Amino acid sequence: MTGPYPRISKIKSTAELKGYLDKLGLELPCDEAILTAPDSPLSNPIEWNGQRAGNRWAIHPMEGWDGTTEGKPTDLTRRRWKNFGLSGAKFIWGGEAVAVRHDGRANPNQLLINDTNLGSIESLRENLIAAHREEVGEPDDLYIGLQLTHSGRFSRPNEKTKPEPRALYPHPILDRRVKIENDDPLFSDSEIDQLIEDFVIAAKRAATIGFQFVDIKHCHGYLGHEFLSSIDREGKYGGIFENRTRFLDEILKGIRAEAPGLEVGVRLSAFDVLPYRPDPETSTERKLGIGIPEECQGEYQYHFGDDPFGAADEPLGDAVQFVQFLLDRDVRLVNISCGSPYYNPHIQRPAYFPPSDGYQPPEEPLIGVVRLLTAAKMIKKACPEALVVGTGLTYLQDFIPQVSQALVREGWMDFAGVGRLVLSYPELPHDVLTTGELKRKKICRTFSDCTTAPRKGMASGCFPLDPYYKNSELGEAFRKLKSG
Ligand SMILES: Cc1cc2nc3c(=O)[nH]c(=O)nc-3n(C[C@H](O)[C@H](O)[C@H](O)COP(=O)(O)O)c2cc1C
Ligand code: SF4
Repeated sequence: MTGPYPRISKIKSTAELKGYLDKLGLELPCDEAILTAPDSPLSNPIEWNGQRAGNRWAIHPMEGWDGTTEGKPTDLTRRRWKNFGLSGAKFIWGGEAVAVRHDGRANPNQLLINDTNLGSIESLRENLIAAHREEVGEPDDLYIGLQLTHSGRFSRPNEKTKPEPRALYPHPILDRRVKIENDDPLFSDSEIDQLIEDFVIAAKRAATIGFQFVDIKHCHGYLGHEFLSSIDREGKYGGIFENRTRFLDEILKGIRAEAPGLEVGVRLSAFDVLPYRPDPETSTERKLGIGIPEECQGEYQYHFGDDPFGAADEPLGDAVQFVQFLLDRDVRLVNISCGSPYYNPHIQRPAYFPPSDGYQPPEEPLIGVVRLLTAAKMIKKACPEALVVGTGLTYLQDFIPQVSQALVREGWMDFAGVGRLVLSYPELPHDVLTTGELKRKKICRTFSDCTTAPRKGMASGCFPLDPYYKNSELGEAFRKLKSG
């Protein structure tokens, strides 16, 4: 089956959606009707390790490329965090990726956690809580973390157009993309030792300003994720599993010693596939081609985890081993993502329309959705002690509530996590639990403009649907840039 694929907005009922999923051979639970609290499984509170989240909606981290060059939040950042607070979700997974030091920023506008910026990052959390109190209710069962990162080979700390990659090993395809030359130095073991300390200091800072947990980011091609595929790196951080997880292990030891009481979670790319590119055969001047995998001589080894719908016997074996490693260290919070927005966005954030640096979907985006949710299910089944946040729901659009409540009821995941949806329609979780009525005009239709804008050097936001962006100078500038 090739595109164009049926638009979700044209599917009239859950019965029609189920029929279409059956035709595609996809298994995905979906209730007939939206349930409100207290009947909805999404309204059930959950407690663990003395922690508590008041319901099963989670908000994924969503960066806006809109901090100051010093790494402080701006009004745009504050507005996004406020929206996370009024969403009604009780689990805020990380807010957005925050760099632990300057050279690890993915762009010159990424937030940076240091002593100077600490007060302004603290106020993000406080504003989020205030918005929650005003629009939703008491915030005592709100659970808020901060995502800590180093962007590794995708670092661009000083200029938007200037990659300054810090890689762990030579990669046969990605080196070309981020302009790594043969003689560019890799991250040395002693530099990694220092970086571990920087992560621990950052976590301690996050604890002092009230965050209940930190996410040590291991997804989307950034440094934490790259460790997991450093199979042929020499030395103590490469090769066997124990070495590839040493970075995280040392950070965890440091956090336990320096910030006792601070919980830790990990957002994981649980599987990965080859980098993709637009097929030149189907590309035109005005339209990106359909995605095809890059060519690779021999078997492609630089992926952690296999496509759950692929041919591997135990596709999630790597991820299960990793989550078991976390559980052995009393880390129960895992957020299951996959791949990378830079080199295989169709698996990582399934969309009807590609971002400007992407390609037309090489598969029905619903396959990507179900693949990602199935990964969460497989990990939850193999590691029932883990508290799993699922990713991949936004593409389901009008059917997000019916699918999310069924997934939580049937134990595919503990929390239904939403990302892009919250940029266009932040209060959907609250609407679902209180009235069960959706504002259809606000539902994200996966136009990908929130990814295209930063790829073109602008701040991110929902330019097509959020009037704050649509009707602003930013919106005007974005439309000009896009049409140009
Ligand atoms: C504009 C934008 C910013 C994002 N920023 C982050 C981030 O800072 N950290 C992260 O782990 N994921 C980030 N993501 C990925 C989302 O958290 C999420 O995994 C992805 O959008 C898929 O979920 P969805 O289908 O609900 O949107 C970002 C995605 C978008 C579109
Ligand atoms: S720009 Fe808006 S509608 Fe488009 S994908 Fe992003 S959030 Fe969704």
